[in-house]
Amino acid sequence: MRERIAADLARARERSRLLTDAVDDHDLVRQHSKLMSPLVWDLAHVGNQEELWLVRDVGGREPVRADIDELYDAFKHARADRPQLPLLGPAEARRYVGEVRTKVLDVLDRVPLEGRRLVENGFAFGMVVQHEQQHDETMLATHQLRVGAPVLDAPPPPPGGPVGPDEVLVPGGPFTMGTSTEAWALDNERPAHQAVTDPFFIDTTPVTNGAYLEFVADGGYDDPRWWSEAGWAHVRKAGLVAPRFWERQGDRWYRTAFGVTAPLDPRQPVVHVCFHEAAAYAKWAGKRLPTEVEWEKAARFDPATGRSRRYPWGDEEPTERHANLGQRHLSPAPVGAYPAGASPLGVHQLIGDVWEWTSSDFHGYTGFEVFPYAEYSQVFFGPEYKVLRGGSFGSDQAAVRATFRNWDYPIRRQIFAGFRCARDAKREELT
Ligand SMILES: [Fe+2]
Repeated sequence: MRERIAADLARARERSRLLTDAVDDHDLVRQHSKLMSPLVWDLAHVGNQEELWLVRDVGGREPVRADIDELYDAFKHARADRPQLPLLGPAEARRYVGEVRTKVLDVLDRVPLEGRRLVENGFAFGMVVQHEQQHDETMLATHQLRVGAPVLDAPPPPPGGPVGPDEVLVPGGPFTMGTSTEAWALDNERPAHQAVTDPFFIDTTPVTNGAYLEFVADGGYDDPRWWSEAGWAHVRKAGLVAPRFWERQGDRWYRTAFGVTAPLDPRQPVVHVCFHEAAAYAKWAGKRLPTEVEWEKAARFDPATGRSRRYPWGDEEPTERHANLGQRHLSPAPVGAYPAGASPLGVHQLIGDVWEWTSSDFHGYTGFEVFPYAEYSQVFFGPEYKVLRGGSFGSDQAAVRATFRNWDYPIRRQIFAGFRCARDAKREELT
């Protein structure tokens, strides 16, 4: 276990380094969007959380830099205000995170991984790994918002392939949702409990750029019939006409990703749409968004055994054959690119590619217990956040699984979010 933790910590740091070394000091300290922190804030914040949990709490050691805790407390300063803070500069931030990591590796060598819930199965280390990877995904989103010559590079995703029918029927009845056994699952994924659905259809793949373009071309953004009241108010006020980073030149559409503008790939899942856009498309298509319960059932339920799997393909950890994860590529992969990652019912690309908006508000499951602190998820419970599932091409495998829950405001578009549709099964479709 210690080896796995050390490898996961190293992989996260390798990625943080790549994302911060890719740009110069000026780009590290400036704010690329009001929605985001300066990259140098994310870097030192990652180190500060690691220090708080692993050096001080788990390790019981003296603080490395108690004086900066307040600066890097995400609850104390809004992202828009962070550039004005007396932050550590790039060189200082790099030195700080390195010093913390050296101490953490020493703690990892010495501390017993049992006897206290926080360290059982390496939980606190897993939490810190996931935290760094989540900030790496946030930093990747900052890169997407950055204006300038491209600085990131990665091979293109694998080609698409056949996916079978457009939608599959998920049988009604109970299944096990959430987990009580996944070692690094966060408090909001717990506990395992029984959830029940009616039979429903879910799209075999996320909605593609090509399908979404039909909605745009059909005047979807100008037609209040497809939008909720809040969605229509937002689309008007914000002046939305297409997904973020799309641009029309003549009669062709282009998409800009990480500084590179290219013709829209009609087979790739649409990305950078907000919840309201996803819900409007679904209504236009005669469907709806899946609930969070439906999404998890489609992702985990194996009708042959009645069991819920860790991932759509089974219980094995993701590999590059299963899913587009870990910033291995800089875009979602065309549909059908991961046949080995399909669920038993034949649903593709549930994990990786794009986060998928669901219709559900973010709440604790029945039996929810805060662990290890309320600010992890409990303070976000409520109707203002919608749940997203499945992770994106920018999510690391340590920070996503079929039980993993993400949440954001329904107007957010800078995250790597798309969606798939679902619909109720009609009685005559069940025989
Ligand atoms: Fe954080």
